[in-house]
Amino acid sequence: MSVKRVLIFDSGVGGLSVYEQIIKINPSIQCQYLFDNAYFPYGELKQTQLVARLTQLLTDFLGQYPADLIVIACNSASTVALKALRQHFTIPIVGVVPAIKPASAVTRNNVIGLLATPGTIARDYTQQLITQFAAGKTVLSIGSTQLVKLAEDKLMGKELDQNEFLTILAPWLNQQVTMPDTLVLGCTHFPLLKAEIQKCFEMPIKLVDSGEAIALRVKQLLGEEQEPKVSCAEEHSHHAFYTKHFNNTAQLSALSHRFAEYGFRSLNYF
Ligand code: DGL
Repeated sequence: MSVKRVLIFDSGVGGLSVYEQIIKINPSIQCQYLFDNAYFPYGELKQTQLVARLTQLLTDFLGQYPADLIVIACNSASTVALKALRQHFTIPIVGVVPAIKPASAVTRNNVIGLLATPGTIARDYTQQLITQFAAGKTVLSIGSTQLVKLAEDKLMGKELDQNEFLTILAPWLNQQVTMPDTLVLGCTHFPLLKAEIQKCFEMPIKLVDSGEAIALRVKQLLGEEQEPKVSCAEEHSHHAFYTKHFNNTAQLSALSHRFAEYGFRSLNYF
């Protein structure tokens, strides 16, 4: 039995929220985590640019670090590029899209808040998910790149200002609309900010993301023949890569520490 290699990809640190879930139920896999900080933030890129960049970058990366499966741990990329990527690569590709369906199943007041990047909110794919799975419910959307940047800041150890969260979520916090009782975290960066988001609401609110469903899908695709967990960390080491050099070495060193805490043995330029 060989160790299964999984490439987890995002524009930044958001994919770590998916990696955490994947590794929890697929403990014997070996992960390469690639983030494209050269083109960050993905939620602001044109669709054609995104598809071309992803195809090129993943081809180059897999040429050097082959994998058995790719996880596009990014809603902004998955909602536009999955079809093209599946046509281009022969290995299985798992994508992450907003968890509208599970949110529909748990909302009590039938008002769902979709929190995502501006790109994801604008996609036809996302609108189709809403039409298909949230018929008869109200879906209120907020597209925010600032929230993505706050997640990056948090992982780099910066102090966050809670007022920024209140400003971003203000459209739902004012009394003019029925407040959602369930939020879809439709960007993989946002589960990293669960505590800060929850703190904006007086009542507990349900926060739904796609991380666990992705992890289960990875398990299913890799099949039953996965090795039992081994104790030797040496053998199944995870490695992370970025695509643009950091000007600020303190930031790089803070990030290296965070990746080490998540179980990565290295963080290098690709
Ligand atoms: N983490 C990403 C997502 O799920 C992308 C954030 C960005 O680069 O805009 O959408």
